[in-house]
Amino acid sequence: MATYGNGRRVAIVAGVRTPFAKAGTAFKSISAIELGKLCVAELLQRTNLDGKEVQALVFGTVIPSVIAPNIAREVSLLPLLPKAVQAYSVSRACASANQAITDAADQIALGHLDVAIAGGSESLSNIPILHAQGFADALVLASKAKSFPARLKALARIRPKDLVPVTPAIAEPSTGETMGQSAEKMAKLNAIAREEQDHFALRSHRLAAAGTADGRLTAEIMPVYVPPRFESVLTSDNGIREDTSYEQLAALKPVFDRKYGSVTAGNSSPLTDGGACVLLMNEEKARALGYPPLGIIRSYAYAALDPGEQLLQAPVLAAPVALKRAGLSLKEIDLVEMHEAFASQVLSNLKGFESKWWAERAGFSQPVGEVDRAKLNVMGGSIAIGHPFGATGARITTTLLNELRRRGGQFGLMTVCSAGGMGFAMVVERTR
Ligand SMILES: CC(C)(COP(=O)(O)OP(=O)(O)OC[C@H]1O[C@@H](n2cnc3c(N)ncnc32)[C@H](O)[C@@H]1OP(=O)(O)O)[C@@H](O)C(=O)NCCC(=O)NCCS
Repeated sequence: MATYGNGRRVAIVAGVRTPFAKAGTAFKSISAIELGKLCVAELLQRTNLDGKEVQALVFGTVIPSVIAPNIAREVSLLPLLPKAVQAYSVSRACASANQAITDAADQIALGHLDVAIAGGSESLSNIPILHAQGFADALVLASKAKSFPARLKALARIRPKDLVPVTPAIAEPSTGETMGQSAEKMAKLNAIAREEQDHFALRSHRLAAAGTADGRLTAEIMPVYVPPRFESVLTSDNGIREDTSYEQLAALKPVFDRKYGSVTAGNSSPLTDGGACVLLMNEEKARALGYPPLGIIRSYAYAALDPGEQLLQAPVLAAPVALKRAGLSLKEIDLVEMHEAFASQVLSNLKGFESKWWAERAGFSQPVGEVDRAKLNVMGGSIAIGHPFGATGARITTTLLNELRRRGGQFGLMTVCSAGGMGFAMVVERTR
């Protein structure tokens, strides 16, 4: 089976991220652009790479700034990078950083690039607040008015209801269903009990706390001094609760279906701010520059289903395709990193991997198989660590490759579910 790249193997050389901070906390006055700049600058400094070597920067964000929608270009205008670095932004909901990585990788595989930075960032503390249409119409009319009375007349059209701000919702534009409601629906359709969800959330916190305490997670995190005073510094993710217990989790009330639901603040990923990025190179170039790759991209696949169905189940359709393209089966995979939007989604995805029905939907006769829990999210996941939408894909990529190296494993599989009913899967291979 040919490895992705048609002979030009794509290496991931390094990855780094900011700590992930719950929205409204330490990073509340840092924009997504700044979070992106922080991690890209750190990546260049840690790798000691001359910025002149970087040819492109691809970045993802889910809720972009209305004023600076091409976040990638703003991030690329760092003093450490030449202005000639071309940069563009991508959007594939929670798989946006994965899209950035695969876009950059495709360009490397094509021979268009040798060195690129890809990743993403998100500030859910700084989302654009929009005006209602009535208010916006009145403002446009007033700006075109030729006299002061005409301007006043235009503004007089504004009604109290027009003053209610419009905030972006974490809901499907096509169905109106929120992510949380989708997670509830998936719990019910796939018979995922509340107890299972809470045990999974507890596991996420315990493993993330262990990875933080022993330095494995902190090794891929840069310290960030907290504005505006820059007197305190955040060095690890502030949503990880080393002291949480099953009893505490079980006591939380369901949020999205208060009467019959099972999805709580404890078994959901929290709204989070953060940035993450990786350095990609053509493998030959990496070796020529003296950078031993962390690993190479062996394959990837995207998939989608009807968002009105099971919104976060498409990784189940993407994973078998990525495995097939890699020429591997789940048994040969040493570690699995699965984005944890909600415990009910992870547990639904895992059930889907074992299901013949889902296998057939993906075009396969046999299911992917049962994921050995000892290989799954070994340093916790987004429930504990947090989930800055645009950044998570790069965090998972870095963690998977670092941990494969530590454990001496060869192959890693990652999956990410995303809004719009889309899913992503990638197989990476540790190189020697
Ligand atoms: C679920 C959600 C609404 C909760 O938001 P929130 O109410 O601000 O969450 P909080 O962190 O304040 O937690 C609520 C309560 O649960 C408690 N809690 C949360 N996690 C806990 C844990 N692991 N252990 C113990 N208590 C916990 C908090 O302490 C808090 O208690 P308090 O009210 O006594 O202070 C929000 O995180 C959310 O929308 N998540 C989903 C995001 C999403 O859709 N992502 C897309 C996925 S792709």
